[in-house]
Amino acid sequence: MTLTTGMKTLAATALTIVALPLMAHAAGEGPQIERQKWSFAGFFGRFDQNQLQRGFQVYKESCAQCHGLSRIDFRNLVQPGGPVFNEDAVKGLAATYEVQDGPNDDGKMFKRPARLSDKIPPPYANEKEARSIHNGAYPPDLSLIARARGLEYHGSVFAHPFHLLKDMVAGYQEGGADYLYALLTGYVEKPADFKMVDGMNYNRAFPGHQISMPPPLLDGAIKTDGKPTYQDGTPATVEQMARDVVAFLSWAGDPKHDERKRMGLLVMLYLLITAVLLYFAKKRIWKSAH
Ligand code: HEC
Repeated sequence: MTLTTGMKTLAATALTIVALPLMAHAAGEGPQIERQKWSFAGFFGRFDQNQLQRGFQVYKESCAQCHGLSRIDFRNLVQPGGPVFNEDAVKGLAATYEVQDGPNDDGKMFKRPARLSDKIPPPYANEKEARSIHNGAYPPDLSLIARARGLEYHGSVFAHPFHLLKDMVAGYQEGGADYLYALLTGYVEKPADFKMVDGMNYNRAFPGHQISMPPPLLDGAIKTDGKPTYQDGTPATVEQMARDVVAFLSWAGDPKHDERKRMGLLVMLYLLITAVLLYFAKKRIWKSAH
């Protein structure tokens, strides 16, 4: 490589570093969304089992009639790192669903109650059926939604690389959860001059602000003994239900989260100890080598 091509490559790289955040900035037109505090955030984050149990209850009562959770098996609800429900209770829940199995000895497909090893059955036979029910809109499967969404950056263009670096160092991965929380709590009065299409709902967080999903969380959706609380005594306000269902969906998108982070920390510790040992070994070996 001659000196001039080298300089050209260098200039091109520098230009890309400056231009990338500019391009990303130009694409971002969504509203500013606040970051929330999550028990599962950061390197030491863990899911809160009680919160996951509450979150599943919210999903079942308020979302399951429209949204599937097709990547989750009933048995996942029993396994460590998740909501860890009682196994018999989940078996009972599974048995209330019907799934197709077969072929049997006569070559026929048949229906049977679901078991722990089955996936949670979707509310629709296929996407066309879903769209025909919802006026053409498609309620997406929620298994991976917390990973499929994120936050847009709104600060100064030139601070963007530093912002990215800061998030990397802090291990920030909860953009999807922050967006979902903002979406579920984002149904507010529309501004007077905002034009809405019939049948749509105004939402502060949704890109474009018009969403076909009606407000899914309503006060009083969850009741215990006639009071708006969960069974564990937590008040079931809209904010609390949103927080819990978002934690649950974050787990659904990453069921091995707790194990992954624990393993990561152990590996870092192991590497640190090995590095120290190697350092002293090297010093010893080279001490007398003149
Ligand atoms: C009455 C049916 C219905 C219920 C109940 C419902 N949704 Fe939706 N949801 C929809 C429809 C329809 C869409 C597609 C919206 C669109 O594209 O305009 C949607 C879209 C979404 C999206 C995608 C938003 C995006 O960024 O693209 C998320 C996330 C979501 N719903 C979460 C939930 C959660 C969580 C619950 C339960 C608390 C819930 N929904 C309950 C019908 C429903």
